[in-house]
Amino acid sequence: MAADEALRLHIADASRRSLDERLANRGFRRLWQERNDALAQLLSTRLEKPLSEYRILDFGCGTGSVTHWLDLQGASPDRLTGVDIQRDRIAKARESYPHLAFVEASGERLPFAAGQFDIALAFTVFSSILDPFVAKRVATEMTRVLATDGGMIIWYDMRYPNPSNPNLRAMTRSRIRHLFPTLDAELAPLTLLPPVAERLGPLTDALYPPLAAIPVLRSHYFGLLRARR
Ligand SMILES: C[S@@+](CC[C@H](N)C(=O)[O-])C[C@H]1O[C@@H](n2cnc3c(N)ncnc32)[C@H](O)[C@@H]1O
Repeated sequence: MAADEALRLHIADASRRSLDERLANRGFRRLWQERNDALAQLLSTRLEKPLSEYRILDFGCGTGSVTHWLDLQGASPDRLTGVDIQRDRIAKARESYPHLAFVEASGERLPFAAGQFDIALAFTVFSSILDPFVAKRVATEMTRVLATDGGMIIWYDMRYPNPSNPNLRAMTRSRIRHLFPTLDAELAPLTLLPPVAERLGPLTDALYPPLAAIPVLRSHYFGLLRARR
């Protein structure tokens, strides 16, 4: 049930550091910036129209930081919606960004019409869904609300398990394929393993680039899932 899943996520998140706490770390700031740069690059090279013309869903938006970033990049607030299952996260997002639309809903039952969005973001969402049957239902809903002509998912999520966090499930290529069988994946590894990045301290500028250049040390997949043409 959605209420049980929301409670499970709430308890799991209680033991995690907040985004603000993590951003206090120089190595984390670096990987965060790298992810945002990769997203900006993808938006500038892969979109055929201005960002403001796309109907965008930030699925699993949490407290809305990525939704807000999209707004700053030129997404139209009228066409930008964040959705999350956790009430307190949606409340915080609304408080922080009152001009943006945030909806409390379970991904298993999205309150949107079929084909309502041109772009859906799935940023570190599926790794927090432990039950593969829930993940499959959520993926099916995301696919349903995506436009059939050219709709795309922008994906960013962990590809490795995290031994110190049993509340995360690695999103490997085969799991992503299983979740979205009708979409083609164009994914590449990104992000230096956070436990490594967060230990770089004053050496971050010197060491992050060469370490992140080693593919096996990249912990996440980033890229596009889009309908086969
Ligand atoms: C790690 S946070 C990521 C937040 C944001 N996307 C980001 O990258 O900063 C994962 C979010 O996904 C949400 N989530 C997980 N399962 C969900 C579901 N079934 N329906 C809606 N939201 C869900 C959680 O509540 C949480 O806020």
